[in-house]
Amino acid sequence: MTKVTIQKLREMKQKEEKISMVTAYDYPQACFVEKAGIEIILVGDSLSMTVLGNEGTVPLTTDEMIAHIKPVVKGAPTPMIVGDMVFGSYNESREQAIHNANRLMKEGGCDAIKLEGGRPDIVGAIVEAGIPVQGHIGLTPQTSSLLGGFKVQGKSLEAAQKIVNDAKALEAAGAFSIVVECVPEELGRAITQAVSIPTIGIGAGAHTDGQVLVYHDMLGMFDKFVPKFVKRYANIGDQIVEGLEKYRDEIKSGAFPAKEHAFGGITREDLDGLI
Ligand code: KIV
Ligand code: NA
Repeated sequence: MTKVTIQKLREMKQKEEKISMVTAYDYPQACFVEKAGIEIILVGDSLSMTVLGNEGTVPLTTDEMIAHIKPVVKGAPTPMIVGDMVFGSYNESREQAIHNANRLMKEGGCDAIKLEGGRPDIVGAIVEAGIPVQGHIGLTPQTSSLLGGFKVQGKSLEAAQKIVNDAKALEAAGAFSIVVECVPEELGRAITQAVSIPTIGIGAGAHTDGQVLVYHDMLGMFDKFVPKFVKRYANIGDQIVEGLEKYRDEIKSGAFPAKEHAFGGITREDLDGLI
């Protein structure tokens, strides 16, 4: 497959070909996503919880984000790689936003950046600076406390209209795509019809142009909390624990290492008188 481009994603929307997207945060994960033929990788700030063990996304730094984008870029040459702007890296000024978007692109090596919220001013400034931007509306985890927690967004007509307006404003500002998180299925459809750029849903129903899930959620590697919209495609965490337990047991019993894991080359007799 050739490198996935913005043009390709737009064509996929026009042809009603669904777009697949998943997060990844390190080299082996990126290699697996490359092999699976998924179109977009998000190095999401969800890594703050899934990989770094933080309570939320707020503490994650741009340096940490860059450190995780780099190995993903090495492991996945084909998918488009989107780096997430971390909390506090784009809320001071347009200059600050451009500065940190530049860092993700130059130091991390990603193809595009994503940022949360209906902020066409910031998105426009970054696009103007030459950096492709993916928007993110509906439930925006970085500011979830302002939204009343991790709740479905846009359930009233007024709230739904605001989210549709945000989507249109982000498109007008030059965003190449929008992630739509945790909204009613019919609002997911309405947003998707309201814009000509691809929408990628997470908990937004079946009618968005594509879907995204968090790697650790969909593969069963993180179970501190699993939202309703997550589907489990594997239980890798259970397999890891099983493997580790077996290893521990075999060390204790002496079953590991066996002869085939050991090296010859010198005998016990040869070593007589060693000490
Ligand atoms: O950080 C993340 O994983 C995300 C996705 C849930 C869209 O922003
Ligand atoms: Na995110």
